[in-house]
This record gives sequence, C-alpha cells and structure tokens, in this order.
Amino acid sequence: MRLDTMSVLPNIVTWIPWTLTAAITSLIACYLLWKTTRNKRLIDQIPGYVDWPLIGDILHFPPNLEGMRKLLIAESEKVRDKGLFKLKILEMPWIFIFSPGNVEKLLSSNKHIEKSWEYYPLYPWLGRGLLTSSGDAWRARRHMLTPSFHFSILKDFSGSINDHAGFLVDKLRREHCDTGEQFDIFSPITLSTLDIICSTAMGVDIGALDRGDSEYIKALFVIKEVTAMRTRNPLNTFDFFYNNTRNGRKCNHSIQIVHDFAYKVIREKRSLKEAGEGPSQGNRRPFLDLLLDCRDEHGNPLTDKEIREEVDTFMFEGHDTTASAISFTIFLLGAHQDIQKQCQAELDEIIGSSLSISNADLSKMTYLDWCIKEALRIFPTVPFFGRKLKEEITFGDYSVPKGTAIFLHTTSLHRDPAIFPEPEKFDPTRFSPENCLKRSPFAYVPFSAGPRNCIGQKFAMMELKVILAKMLTAFNIESVVKQADLRVEDALVLQPCDGIKIKLTSRNVY
Ligand code: HEM
Repeated sequence: MRLDTMSVLPNIVTWIPWTLTAAITSLIACYLLWKTTRNKRLIDQIPGYVDWPLIGDILHFPPNLEGMRKLLIAESEKVRDKGLFKLKILEMPWIFIFSPGNVEKLLSSNKHIEKSWEYYPLYPWLGRGLLTSSGDAWRARRHMLTPSFHFSILKDFSGSINDHAGFLVDKLRREHCDTGEQFDIFSPITLSTLDIICSTAMGVDIGALDRGDSEYIKALFVIKEVTAMRTRNPLNTFDFFYNNTRNGRKCNHSIQIVHDFAYKVIREKRSLKEAGEGPSQGNRRPFLDLLLDCRDEHGNPLTDKEIREEVDTFMFEGHDTTASAISFTIFLLGAHQDIQKQCQAELDEIIGSSLSISNADLSKMTYLDWCIKEALRIFPTVPFFGRKLKEEITFGDYSVPKGTAIFLHTTSLHRDPAIFPEPEKFDPTRFSPENCLKRSPFAYVPFSAGPRNCIGQKFAMMELKVILAKMLTAFNIESVVKQADLRVEDALVLQPCDGIKIKLTSRNVY
C-alpha cells in the first residue's frame, strides 16, 4: 500500500487544534479536581506567595543561584514567627522550615528519613550510597558504615591530613606570601581537600594541588559543575532529555571516568587483600580498606558497586564541604583581625613551632573550635537539605501532607535574631559552653541532626582544625572584600561567586 503523504497531511493539520483543545481541557479538569483536594487546601494555608494556577511561583524566581539564596533568606524573614514558608514550582510545593521547634520535629523523627526527589541529579554519579539511599537500604548501610567513622579509626587519618596541610602551607608561602598581591584561596583549598579525601578514602595520591591535571580530577570538576547546573532547567529532570544534551553527554562521560577509576582502585585493593599483602595495613588504612571488611547482618560483604557508591559519596561529601567551610572561616578571620590574633595566641601556646599537630593538640583548640562553629553558622556549608514526608506532619497551625518535599533551611535557621542577636556579626563567643546551654540544640545544625546526620562530622572538624591551625601559625591573613560585599551562592554546597580574595604575610614568630 502506498502512503499518500499529500492526502494524509491535511487530516493531521485538522486534528492539531482538537488534540490541543483536548489536552488543555484535561489539564484544566485535573487542576480543578486537584483544587478540591485536602492536600491542596493544606498546602495553600502555608505562608508563601499568592501563586498562579499551574505555574506556581516561578515568575518570582530570580535567574541565578545567588538571587535564589537572597529570595529564600528574604522570604523566611517575612514569616520568621511561623518558622516555615512554601514555594511552588508549577503545582509542586517545596516547604522550607527554619525554626528550632519545626527543625526538631522533623530531624528527631525516625520516620522522616527519606530523601526528597530533588537529589536525583546525584544518582548517576553516587548511585544509592549513604547520602542518596532511603528506607531499609539506608538503615543497613548506615549500620555497616558507622564503625568506620569511630574516633579510634579517624585519629589515624591525622598523619595524612597533617602532611597535606603542610604541603599547602609550603606552596602558599612560596607563591603568595609577602607578595602584597591578593589571590583566591578557595581554589588551592579545594585542591588540597581533594588530595586529603583521595588519600583517606581510597589510599591514592592524585597530586591535585601539586599538578591538578589528572583525568580523574578534571572529570570530577566537570561532574560537580554540570550536576549543579542540571537543577536550573526543569526539562533536565527528564533523563531522556538531559542525556541527549551536550552537558548531559559531557557529564555522563566524566562519570564513567570517575567510576572506572574507583573500580580500578577497589579491584587492586581487593586482590592485594586476598593475597594477604594489603599495603595499607597499619595506621593508614583508607576508608576503602574498611569497606572491604564491612559485613551486613547476614555476614555478606559489600559488592564492588556498593563500595564504589560509598567511595564516590565520600569523594563528593568529603571535599567540597570541607573546602567551603575552611575558606569561609579563613575569610571571616581575615576580616576580623582581633579574633584572628586571639586564635593565633591560642595556637602558639598549643603547638608552638611543632611541625605536626597531634590529636591531643586538636582537643585543646577551644577558641579555634568556636570560630569554626561561628563560621558554619553564618555560612552553613549545606545551605538546605531535603526530605520526603513519610506521613503528614504538623508545624504549629500548619499541616504538611504526606509525600511533600520539605527542606531544612539552615541559612535562615542560623540567622534568627532572637537566638543569635545581630546575626551577621562574627562572634565566636556564641559557642562558649554557657551560651550553647541557653539555646535549643536544634537552633544550630550545620551537620544536620538526628538519625540522618552527617557521618563525617568528626572527620571534617579534624581536617578543618589541622588546616586552619597550620595556616594561622604560618601566616597573617587579610581579607580583601568586606563581609557585607562578599557574593555567595547555594550551589551543591555554599560557595563564593568570585572566589575568596586574601593577602598573606608571614608571621615569623619562630
Ligand atoms: C564542613 C564539612 C561538612 C558539612 C557541613 C557536612 C554537612 C552535612 C549535612 C548537613 C548532611 C545531611 C545532608 C542531608 O540530609 O541531605 C550531611 C550528610 C552526610 N555527610 Fe557530611 N558534611 C561535611 C563533611 C563531610 C565529610 C568530610 C564526609 C565524609 C568523609 C561527609 C559525609 C557525609 C555523608 C556520607 C552523609 C550522608 C549521611 C546519611 O544520610 O546517613 N560529610 N553532611
């Protein structure tokens, strides 16, 4: 049978208006039906913009992440007394909570441990590792991995962290100290934390700060950049669309490189272990070695894929977060010379001219500890994180239906003027034991809290303290930009829009 294109075409053309009318009518019918539901009524009662039917609040959305951050802070300030507000993307609500009472209700629950679907851009890279998994799969993983983050294990990493921090200080001394020139500290810190997590997670030295040109490092940077960009276009939600875009293909290629690298290291370690030769025995066993020893409740080991998911998760969670936290602490100390001097006085007394910082030294650094905590209050590394509600939850006068995506907005929580007067002021004494006792533990949660809190918190604090202590004993730091002028954006983690510009001079105290 011959298809007569010319006779079929007019038929199709006449059908187009009918099909369109049918689609629009169905959409309107669905919307009107949805409008009558209890869920819709509950969501509508939550404070927020007066939204447009079907398109929600998207007309209010700024064009970039910096603007989005400002919008979230401004909206929460308008309804500070309620402790929550909503934003709607099309008809899909996002609920942001930011009062200690609401935060406690969400985080202390054992039910609301499921991640919201907004974590989907991370799935191709991290699979369903500890950060992205939910339900029983998450519980089993968390149970298996928790012992690997015990202090008795973590203390063995301090040698490696000391070595990398020493290398960072030497490089900064050679290239930037006493030159009178400003430079961006965010970049070398990121490369150094990448070196640290590679050696502690996989037992591999990738020389990121030294050379920075390996295929693995380049691929990691592509993944981070493109994954953060993926969230900016709703069409990218659909894999079949995204995978065929230029960025999608570029990112998938880089993910393949990163996965292949991790598999190669896992196989090498496994065969060394099977041959009884583990080179990483003794007190520098990377996380990967510990993962090879993990067993579930039936005595089964993790598969190579499961280990790779965890290694990739540590690579992601374990270097951008610490790089951001260290850089913003440096920025604040560089902008507050009096507080910096107090830190240096404490450090001179504890470590003096010693080249290596011991675990005992770290526990004595009380004032530095307060400074880091205060920096994480003003600039929380993870500006918000999400859950999918397992069942309906009530916050004061408002109920949020089951299945809704809910975000804990740390940035606004940490800026409550009733709890932290003059919230923008850098005042480390807010973290003295007396002052901490005066407020709810849920008023400050940079590492989250409850069953799904950050498993790497102790590791992170150890790394932060070693790097900051080494830098503060070696240099005087001056921040070039004023705190009020620093431009920041909520990417995958908090980051400066234009880097963090500082100047270094040597201290020459020893
Ligand atoms: C300053 C540094 C860090 C900060 C502020 C931080 C913060 C957080 C936060 C807020 C969460 C909860 C996220 C959520 O619920 O979506 C989290 C989870 C997690 N963090 Fe960290 N983190 C840091 C460093 C690290 C490091 C160094 C590692 C690993 C070596 C790590 C590993 C993880 C993992 C695996 C999870 C998922 C835990 C779970 O769901 O059971 N983090 N982190």
